[in-house]
Amino acid sequence: MSDSVSRRSALGFAAGAIAVAAAATAGLAVPSHAAGRARRGPGAGPRVESLVAGLTLDEKISLLHGARDPESLGQAGYVPGVPRLGIPPLRLADGPAGVRVAARATALPAPVMLAAAFDPALARAYGQVIGREGRALGQDVLLSPMVNLIRTPYAGRNFETFTEDPLLAADLVAEEIRGIQGEGLIATVKHFALNNQEKDRMSIDVRADERTLHETELRGFEAAVRAGTGAVMGAYNKVNGTFACENKPLLDDVLRDRWGFEGWVMTDWSAQHSTGRALAAGLDMEMPDGTHFGAALKRAVTNGGVPEAHLDRSVRRILGVMERFGLLGESVPERPERDPEAGAAVARAVAEAGATLLRNTDRTLPLTGRAARDIAVIGPTGRHPFVSGGGSAHVVPDRADSPLDALTERAGRGARVTYAPGEDLYGKEIPRSALSPAFDAEEQRVAAGREWTYEGTLTLDEADAWTFVIHYSGERPEVELAGTELFPPVPGVGEFFSGGLVSTAPDGLNVRRATVPLTGGGHRLRITARGGDQGQTFRIRRVTAATRAADVAEAVRTARGAHTVVLFAYEDATEGQDRTSLALPGHQEELIRAVTAANPRTTVVLNTSSATSMPWLERTAAVLQMYYPGQEGAAATAAVLFGDCDPGGRLTQTFPVDDAHHPTAGDPRRYPGVDGVEEYSEGIHVGYRWYDAEGVRPLFPFGYGLSYTTFAYSDLTVRRVSGPGVDVSFVVRNTGAREGVTVAQVYVGPSPDLRQAQADRALAGYRRIVLRAGERRRVTVRVDERALSAWDAKRHVWQLGTGRRTVHVGTSARELALSTSIDIKGAGS
Ligand code: BGC
Repeated sequence: MSDSVSRRSALGFAAGAIAVAAAATAGLAVPSHAAGRARRGPGAGPRVESLVAGLTLDEKISLLHGARDPESLGQAGYVPGVPRLGIPPLRLADGPAGVRVAARATALPAPVMLAAAFDPALARAYGQVIGREGRALGQDVLLSPMVNLIRTPYAGRNFETFTEDPLLAADLVAEEIRGIQGEGLIATVKHFALNNQEKDRMSIDVRADERTLHETELRGFEAAVRAGTGAVMGAYNKVNGTFACENKPLLDDVLRDRWGFEGWVMTDWSAQHSTGRALAAGLDMEMPDGTHFGAALKRAVTNGGVPEAHLDRSVRRILGVMERFGLLGESVPERPERDPEAGAAVARAVAEAGATLLRNTDRTLPLTGRAARDIAVIGPTGRHPFVSGGGSAHVVPDRADSPLDALTERAGRGARVTYAPGEDLYGKEIPRSALSPAFDAEEQRVAAGREWTYEGTLTLDEADAWTFVIHYSGERPEVELAGTELFPPVPGVGEFFSGGLVSTAPDGLNVRRATVPLTGGGHRLRITARGGDQGQTFRIRRVTAATRAADVAEAVRTARGAHTVVLFAYEDATEGQDRTSLALPGHQEELIRAVTAANPRTTVVLNTSSATSMPWLERTAAVLQMYYPGQEGAAATAAVLFGDCDPGGRLTQTFPVDDAHHPTAGDPRRYPGVDGVEEYSEGIHVGYRWYDAEGVRPLFPFGYGLSYTTFAYSDLTVRRVSGPGVDVSFVVRNTGAREGVTVAQVYVGPSPDLRQAQADRALAGYRRIVLRAGERRRVTVRVDERALSAWDAKRHVWQLGTGRRTVHVGTSARELALSTSIDIKGAGS
């Protein structure tokens, strides 16, 4: 995309800025405003104005960057207040799947699972739990929701965000923000913008043309602004040549001038690269410290390089939001108590509503009769619950039950539930005889301030593939094998970023693994463990070809001995790293092959973040996608497997057949980028739009998911409503024998009047419907003007796609039972 730099200038949008009516949030009305006003600073009230007038330069600067919290609650960020003027400090905690502090909180299912419910009302309830808990846990700002689109299945944070579809993303982010902020916690939509991968996230220059930006990634952010988000977090990456946190076209021109955002923009953690330039571009707050907006900013103001008025503008934005949330008055809102039961109920409801049944042959599920009374549970995450993904999204859960226990309990008295891990997550002891000199590899304790070093030889009788597994508290130990570090730091990720549950041993120690082929004979081993401030516990273990084979053999025996198998498979995604393959990690594919060969009545439960390739699919009887289901995941999984509820989820991202057939395959400029540049050359064809445009068959299409019952769709009519929108109406009937969920999806075809590439079909509306057996209902879905419009990059406005357009209704992007067409006319025509 050679002209991407000149296209970037088109993001200036000087002309034709439109007024944006901000929505009223639940209980916290956001003033409507005209575009352009925000550039001059929000119309802050008299209290904010008088505070700005009363603040010294040092005090203003202290509000514009993070600092160390003297009374940290374990949250990610802190901004000291100015007590002499009654400005309280701000504590900023991570989400997005709960409130991440040192204390326990409700670990909600990952946002991708919430999205699978296609239910904005549930997104509001999810936000309300976080909003209340955040306030109760001493926080003022939540660093959530994340609304970057799922663009590539490899992206490490796909579980933290919602979907590949811009309309669905926009609906969900808006409702979640209303839920969070309605409880008095300030939301921070992130990461603005195009942070759609972790690979090189600190530096990658993402190039996307103006139309692509508006029609895909920016839709969610715009919806967040309309819903009244108090804060926006800038991304690490560059957008069209300029770092997102100093990107004037994004921060000032789009966010403030075009959308009328009146809150403040903070950096992602250490994502800032300049002082005056960033401030002038529209950045207000540096996190987590003051590298650029501390002493450097003071110098720039005192030597005249940065006008103090620019500082005032940012201070006004921050105080303006604090005022809006009642944080500046004499009587600040009281903090509520946590309500763990209410949190758990929402966590459970989301896990059930987002559970997505991908395959179910011969009515394998729900488990009934013998299948419900004689079960083998296989897989390490069948016992150790996979609660949440890794990185800054990891919440300390109130509880985390084992799926094995939940299934055993649900199966009830008289049932037989057996278990085999099949794969060893935590390793087995390294025999002392293999280490010379020998040492206790099972438990080393290093006192605070001390260092422990081992230098010796590891000897193998014959060649083998070892997985080294280290368990440790505190600082990551160094382990060098023949001079090569086995556990190098992950760039851009702090040492203490534990991953998901797979990265934490049952006794709470951090776990890392490295698989290396080893030749027979001696290998130089050097280990350095450091006690740090708190002392360190450290152990090193191994998995070998023989222990691996023994684990699989035990799983096969267990599977053979039971009527039915429930095999839990996982993928341990985390911030800071992309996946390198769509296959299940480790030896799980081999395990599935062996177990399904032993017992074909096998249901695979997937605790994965994003699309997985499934070369083993045909061998299974059923596949249930449970993502990272949060603290109530075990009970929810059991409820779905036994049919206490219908699996309510539908895919919010297309699952490709393999690594070679998806929108970012085959062209490294598209992903992961070449020479630091990545091009969104698929343009508006993100997600299913690409599969349609290229005629590529997915493994499972966007919107797909099975129910335990069946539905029939009929009687489609489409009629114009006042204004350019349309009402799409149809009848849905539950034709099966039990209550169930269907997600009706409305897609529209291209406009003949728009002379640019368009999607063959784009989601324009949807409705989640629960019907009893035999029940029928007429459903009407409003398709609004935006869903019928495309971005006109010449005039920098949305343009209605007029003319005859096809309207499809169905249950996925590829199962469209009903179609018709309608003339779309502009308002007044
Ligand atoms: C992440 C953000 C997070 C921040 C604070 C960063 O590494 O990208 O999403 O809010 O850390 O923990």
